[in-house]
Amino acid sequence: MSKKNPTSHNSILINADQAVHKIDRHIYGQFSEHLGTGIYGGIWVGEDSKIPNKEGYRSDVLDALIELKIPNIRWPGGCFADEYNWLDGVGPRSERPVRINTHWGMAREDNSFGTHEFMRLTELLGAEPYISANVGSGTAENMSRWIEYLTFDGESEMADLRRKHGREAPWKIKFWGIGNESWGCGGNMRPEYYADLYRRFATYAKNYSGNLLYKIASGFSDANYDWTDTVMKISGRFMDALSLHYYTLPTGLWNEKGPSIDFGEKEYFQSMEEALKMDEYVARHKDRMDVYDPEKRVALAVDEWGVWTDPLPGSKPGYLQQQNTMRDALVASMTLDILHRHADRVRIANIAQTVNVLQAMILTEEEKMVLTPTYHVFHMYRPHQDATLLSIKLDSSDYSEGDGSVPSISATASKDGSGAVNLSLSNIHATESQEISCDLRGMDLKKVDSGRLLTADAVDAINSFDQPDRVAPVTFEDYSLKGSRLTIKMPPMSIATLRMQ
Ligand code: AHR
Repeated sequence: MSKKNPTSHNSILINADQAVHKIDRHIYGQFSEHLGTGIYGGIWVGEDSKIPNKEGYRSDVLDALIELKIPNIRWPGGCFADEYNWLDGVGPRSERPVRINTHWGMAREDNSFGTHEFMRLTELLGAEPYISANVGSGTAENMSRWIEYLTFDGESEMADLRRKHGREAPWKIKFWGIGNESWGCGGNMRPEYYADLYRRFATYAKNYSGNLLYKIASGFSDANYDWTDTVMKISGRFMDALSLHYYTLPTGLWNEKGPSIDFGEKEYFQSMEEALKMDEYVARHKDRMDVYDPEKRVALAVDEWGVWTDPLPGSKPGYLQQQNTMRDALVASMTLDILHRHADRVRIANIAQTVNVLQAMILTEEEKMVLTPTYHVFHMYRPHQDATLLSIKLDSSDYSEGDGSVPSISATASKDGSGAVNLSLSNIHATESQEISCDLRGMDLKKVDSGRLLTADAVDAINSFDQPDRVAPVTFEDYSLKGSRLTIKMPPMSIATLRMQ
């Protein structure tokens, strides 16, 4: 045992023959808003850019995102969605109007990325589109014409307009959001008012030409269970999902969230405590939904989550640019573990946001790009998409700091279509190594196929353009197998994934 990194002991029992529920791949969704350089510069540069691109999309970003097997992408917002008029973003780009992005830095919005560009992006990534429609400042008529434009294959003014703009065949689109944060930037509505408005908009969200919309209502953030209650009571039967937003603020405070880099263990520990609150929020929103929908027909869509810090010093106001550290990686792995556990009701989730904004997968600056620690977690966790969550019993040591204490270990075990068990373990302790004694029952464990480990030498370690692989996965072999018992050793601040047969 090294003096610097004392080792704690933990145990995990995995019941490989006890299925809990399916982990819907849509829990691995992304969110890309018209915000800062999240789309313009980060994903879309246009065909004439000197940055290598495919049809106007950055080639480096596209290639990296394809690797993540993204199931769905939510667009165009966020707060931006409730000011967006889709008609501004179709037709010849040179004729599209310039607007102001009033939510995000009063930025110039030239609408060069619109409906066709978004739908093509989803095709290139193999992801399903999730469009968030404008309820705050829009009309039901405008929204219903957008759906007709996208999905109707017959003769109509909107379908013909789509054809005139170069797209003959209608698209298929499933996920359709009706409002975003309608209690805040999406219109400052009361739950009763929104619930009625939702019913009206949902009525005009029509299914054309065999397309079947999956309608997602705007839910609340954090702990406002009354919104969930009222909206479920009044309009639950008209929706397929209700959303929930929860951001991990390192300090827990909106007015001073804490820096995204150059922080110490105290701030790191507090971030872990804040991230773990997701479990309680999801559990309690689910409880309220159970009252109106005990069969769990309506999903909970955690369609915005992630770490939200103070902006990087010197970055543009309203651009929500932050760094991404080992802390972010651990918040991501812990949150995904929580969402897996609640996947009986949580069937969609979207991390905020894909590129350059909040807890991003990728950071870019002009032609440079780097994969963040969070990207690597999404990559390592891919085997859990659409897998079956297995029942586990985890006995974790504690990670204590000041008056607080949290479990050191977070875990997911799932079985994929081939019968292999994938185990993900996170050691969130900043200074202690962990030994985990893993007992696998209900399966004849023959071998560990492969292992990967993500770790770092500091809680605020980042990948920079100059040092892009400071936090990158490596082959993991620090385990031993005796019979059905596997003993795993993990360094502080680390995430391991093992595939077992
Ligand atoms: O993701 C940034 C913003 O956070 C979104 O636009 C909004 O929905 C939320 O408040």
